[in-house]
Amino acid sequence: MNSTANTVEPGKQAIKPALEVIGKRFSPKAFSPEAIDQDTLDSIMTASTYAPSCFNEQPWRYRLFFRSTGEYNKMLALLSASNQEWAKNAPVLVLGYTKKHFDRTGEENHYSMYDLGQSVAHLTLEAMEHGVYTHQMGGFDRKKATQTFSIGEEFTIAVVIAMGRLNTDLIGDIDKNSVAARRKRKSLKDILIKD
Ligand SMILES: Cc1cc2nc3c(=O)[nH]c(=O)nc-3n(C[C@H](O)[C@H](O)[C@H](O)COP(=O)(O)O)c2cc1C
Repeated sequence: MNSTANTVEPGKQAIKPALEVIGKRFSPKAFSPEAIDQDTLDSIMTASTYAPSCFNEQPWRYRLFFRSTGEYNKMLALLSASNQEWAKNAPVLVLGYTKKHFDRTGEENHYSMYDLGQSVAHLTLEAMEHGVYTHQMGGFDRKKATQTFSIGEEFTIAVVIAMGRLNTDLIGDIDKNSVAARRKRKSLKDILIKD
């Protein structure tokens, strides 16, 4: 079956999550460069630490880049050209990476990416609760990011997250068509396996 068969935009299904913030979140491209205040940023990053993780290892790590700094520009330059076009307006870029081995045993942690993903999910929902949008990106040069920011070989770089408030003037131009197209979801019957 076509993987997009029976897809529908979130919020248009008959059943909706009770948590409003889940329904509100989407990944925009129309970011406003307006800075995120420190208290809000602290809440968002603290939420990322509340995620569960295998053996409570908390393998996730985040490096924050603030717009108009040299380090931000270095991070931006490592994004794919199509991501740079819109991410350049976000006041904060977050590089997410994760520790490959357990601290406790030194063995490979097969849940390291899984745990980072859960942590990022917490971060995105807390951000949304503050009216701060997030847009995760896999489109960047991991190898160069590892070198540029001296990420140790015990870590795997996973994601860059653009974070900021919406630029409502831009949203019609940038996000009008693409958001609806990108946000189609499979129906429950396509993901719930029943006997
Ligand atoms: C790991 C990951 C990598 C992604 N990479 C990109 C990317 O490089 N560029 C982009 O525009 N969107 C990227 N996205 C955003 C997805 O396209 C988006 O989350 C998806 O279409 C669902 O839309 P929504 O987040 O608005 O609900 C990525 C999302 C995730 C979780």
